[in-house]
Amino acid sequence: MRHLLSAADLDRATAIEVLDAAAQMAATQAREIKKLPTLRGRTVVNLFFEDSTRTRISFETAAKRLSADVINFAAKGSSVSKGESLKDTAQTLQAMGADAVVIRHPASGAPHRLAHSGWVGTSVVNAGDGTHQHPTQALLDAYTIRRHLTGTTGNPDGVGNDLTGLRVAIVGDVLHSRVARSNVQLLHTLGAEVTLVSPPTLVPVGAEAWPCSISYHLDAVLADQQPDAIMMLRVQRERMGGDRTGATGFFPSPLEYTRSFGLDARRLRMLPDHAIVLHPGPMNRGLEISAEAADSPRAVILEQVANGVAVRMAVLYLLLAQERETLA
Ligand code: CP
Repeated sequence: MRHLLSAADLDRATAIEVLDAAAQMAATQAREIKKLPTLRGRTVVNLFFEDSTRTRISFETAAKRLSADVINFAAKGSSVSKGESLKDTAQTLQAMGADAVVIRHPASGAPHRLAHSGWVGTSVVNAGDGTHQHPTQALLDAYTIRRHLTGTTGNPDGVGNDLTGLRVAIVGDVLHSRVARSNVQLLHTLGAEVTLVSPPTLVPVGAEAWPCSISYHLDAVLADQQPDAIMMLRVQRERMGGDRTGATGFFPSPLEYTRSFGLDARRLRMLPDHAIVLHPGPMNRGLEISAEAADSPRAVILEQVANGVAVRMAVLYLLLAQERETLA
């Protein structure tokens, strides 16, 4: 694996290989072997042009637990504010010895440009680009679902398993969600049946062609499909304005949105007993998810965060520590 730019880069076998490697990484962490020597002498650059809490800290933790050196770069406070281009910024960081660049960027396609422009010779990992892709989020979500819903006594992490037969509902602001796009692709690759549930105004043009079904009625999906996992999406108010949702905000209004698409105690009770609740974070409590749902025993939201470290350790390991054919 040379780069990880999109969930589409992962076929079923490769996705399972990453999830299984993540399970091994998690096992080392559980044994309190916090630091592995695997990437000693390698340098990982976190190049973040957009805000992040979970992803940036998670990649930093993952790289450090593999003994890599880490350079954290945030566009705010850097020479980007003086007009420095992505090319010059990336080449500057490579000149400092980067072996991998983890990039988050508001422009869809920026990681792809970096990987295929010839500007740098490093591996590139997409940590979220615009409304396009967030492949490591999809991997950590799949890891969390697999562990909870396919794990057994003898195989608590569900190692080797895919997600065949599981029903996953992804609910909310699909229009702006790179998490939804990545998850639809990866969950489908792993055999899950995915249903997107969203107001019609927050469904992207072309979503009809995605490998999932689409509904505009959350209560009907909960009652009829009885999903095994429900993934609530963040309403991305910062990306609303100047697009089809209207410059003044989003439609439906926040109150209507919560009534029709919010996960609350009543809807939580409609789920089957084994069902789990996911959210990529950061959450808008009281908008797409109530505090009761977010803090319920079914919610695996903090577990997603913890699993993100193991998944990103696995991705960095497979990118940097193995000589493999190019995927992307
Ligand atoms: N899930 C996610 O990408 O969160 P951050 O924006 O905090 O990284």
